[in-house]
Amino acid sequence: MLTHAASVIREAEVFVITAGAGMGVDSGLPDFRGDQGFWCAYPAYARLGLSFVDCANPQHFTGDPSFGWGFYGHRTNLYRDTIPHEGFHLIRKWIERNRADYFVVTSNVDGQFQKAGYVDDRILEVHGSIHWLQCQKPCGDRIWRNDEVIRTDEVSMRARHPLPRCPGCGEISRPNILMFGDWSWLPDRTSSQEQAFEQFLAVNANRRIAVIEIGAGSAIPTIRATSERIGWSIEHATVIRINPREAEITAPYISLPCGALEGLQAIDALM
Ligand SMILES: NC(=O)c1ccc[n+]([C@@H]2O[C@H](COP(=O)([O-])OP(=O)(O)OC[C@H]3O[C@@H](n4cnc5c(N)ncnc54)[C@H](O)[C@@H]3O)[C@@H](O)[C@H]2O)c1
Ligand SMILES: [Zn+2]
Repeated sequence: MLTHAASVIREAEVFVITAGAGMGVDSGLPDFRGDQGFWCAYPAYARLGLSFVDCANPQHFTGDPSFGWGFYGHRTNLYRDTIPHEGFHLIRKWIERNRADYFVVTSNVDGQFQKAGYVDDRILEVHGSIHWLQCQKPCGDRIWRNDEVIRTDEVSMRARHPLPRCPGCGEISRPNILMFGDWSWLPDRTSSQEQAFEQFLAVNANRRIAVIEIGAGSAIPTIRATSERIGWSIEHATVIRINPREAEITAPYISLPCGALEGLQAIDALM
């Protein structure tokens, strides 16, 4: 499997990197795999009996903004402080070595690919980004960069006042992230990234594409479905799925049941 993965990568003219929360685990970030995974990362929510779905809910920004910003403020600070692991750089090295084009498709909202030097116009963030804000109402279509300093109490997971506000109407703002039961998310930024990605696929449909999927869970299968769609709809595309617990994929695609960094380093050793 590893040898096959290395040869697909060596010959790739185009790379599509599809990534879920597992991509960040080797940088020290938590995934939210099941309630136990979420509660292990956030014991305060375990004490309150609240799941990820309960916490990632836009209603908190209206009903209890200090709670809403407690969760998202903590994550903003965590993602700002995180340094992407070497695996991000190995993939970039392969792209440069092959003089290949690339696109990243991720359900992560953490901005780690940008931090690792991937360019903005080659990234699709299907659930938005924590580094962009919008009005919670919203009073308009505007989104703006999250330059806020957000102080949170790690025990209660509540954010201290003053909380971020919309410069347009003065209401509390919220991250431009698609949450659960979310009718107020402004999708324009993600929609234009989606258009750019579809155009990218159309232009590269006849090239040899290596799809490297890393750490995408099956609970919310958006990313896995994207990799599989490219695999069956594009003739010269091969999917490599790297995941320590849920690596299964139908042949001829390649399954590497290991962590992101371990898998990427093992491939690199064969290049
Ligand atoms: N960093 C982030 O931005 C972040 C983090 C957690 C959750 N989320 C959000 O929550 C949802 C969760 O879905 P998901 O499928 O991305 O995550 P998930 O938490 O449901 O699943 C994580 C996956 O990563 C795998 N994994 C664990 N350790 C790994 C490692 N070291 N290397 C590679 N893979 C590893 C697990 O086996 C699992 O399949 C998404 O919609 C996303 O928006 C985002
Ligand atoms: Zn507003």
